[in-house]
Amino acid sequence: MGSQKLGIILCLSGLLFLNLLVFSRADVHSYELFLEEAEFTKLCSTKSILTANGSFPGPEIRVSRGDTVFVNVHNQGSQAVSMVWEGIKQSITGSDGLIQPGKNFTYEIKLSDEIGTLWWHAKSAWASATVHGAFVILPAAAESYPFPPPDADQTIVLGSWYKQELTEANAPGKADAFTINGHPGETYGCSNDSTYEQQVDYQSVYHLRIVNAALNETMEFGVEYHMFTVVGQDGAYTTRSFADSLTIAPGRTVDVLLCADQNLGHYFITAKPSSGNLLTTGIIRYTTTSTGV
Ligand SMILES: *[C@@H]1O[C@H](CO)[C@@H](O)[C@H](O)[C@H]1NC(C)=O
Ligand SMILES: *[C@@H]1O[C@H](CO)[C@@H](O)[C@H](O)[C@H]1NC(C)=O
Ligand SMILES: *[C@@H]1O[C@H](CO)[C@@H](O)[C@H](O)[C@H]1NC(C)=O
Ligand SMILES: *[C@@H]1O[C@H](CO)[C@@H](O)[C@H](O)[C@H]1NC(C)=O
Repeated sequence: MGSQKLGIILCLSGLLFLNLLVFSRADVHSYELFLEEAEFTKLCSTKSILTANGSFPGPEIRVSRGDTVFVNVHNQGSQAVSMVWEGIKQSITGSDGLIQPGKNFTYEIKLSDEIGTLWWHAKSAWASATVHGAFVILPAAAESYPFPPPDADQTIVLGSWYKQELTEANAPGKADAFTINGHPGETYGCSNDSTYEQQVDYQSVYHLRIVNAALNETMEFGVEYHMFTVVGQDGAYTTRSFADSLTIAPGRTVDVLLCADQNLGHYFITAKPSSGNLLTTGIIRYTTTSTGV
């Protein structure tokens, strides 16, 4: 482990490290989200779930520190839903109202000093299981990262999957699988299940934004033979620390740097609940076009 840690420090130390806090003019963004039923096949069975924009997880909202965000949520499902914007410090206009089927509502979210990764989801557990997504907050223009600037960033949303139908009257029980960006991977014995795969370039530094959207489950997350440099949590920077696996409570987010410093090849990503024996895998695959080796 000692040599791995040294490897990470070397991989990160070649990069420019500035810590300027220069705030600039905030922007205003408008997003539309359509809550709609969509069919998905996982664990060898097909069912209809409520989604945001037809995808699981839902689309990412990506803004900068201090911005104002309007999100117009159109409920095209059959049950009333309200949305939660986790970790936003200032009040959110209209945050308590239920959006009835066929109606829409625009949330006004004024960011203050939140930075890094937060997430949004439907309030009721049955809907939150499938209606959720990342809320990425980048540094403001001219503001730099308080860590070596990553070459790329990648959001990883951990979710739980239920074979049962989910409705207000039929709340989720125990998860049948866990997913990485919607993919259950190959451990559930169903050849139709897709596996999450991320390509990396040798010696590049990736900012992973990990959201635990799995209901009620603390998740353990790791990438074999790689260590993480933890740089943020729940929408705030943290002092840097090293970890070879992450324990993420439900509803929490973690920002880490992953340095692609291993031999070219592919490595398993693992996500598993801290209780029970389910295991979900994904893959990190080094691109072979790299000249670094
Ligand atoms: C959701 O879908 C609508 C309609 O296709 C699209 O205009 C909108 O940009 C999407 N929202 C996000 C956050 O991607
Ligand atoms: C899974 O895939 C097989 C063959 O690829 C197909 O015949 C079967 O219908 C699929 N099952 C589901 C539930 O989609
Ligand atoms: C509903 O959506 C329409 C069209 O996008 C928009 O003009 C209107 O302001 C929205 N209503 C609410 C209450 O957000
Ligand atoms: C999740 O937690 C809530 C509240 O603590 C509880 O009502 C619910 O039954 C739990 N659900 C699962 C799937 O454990």
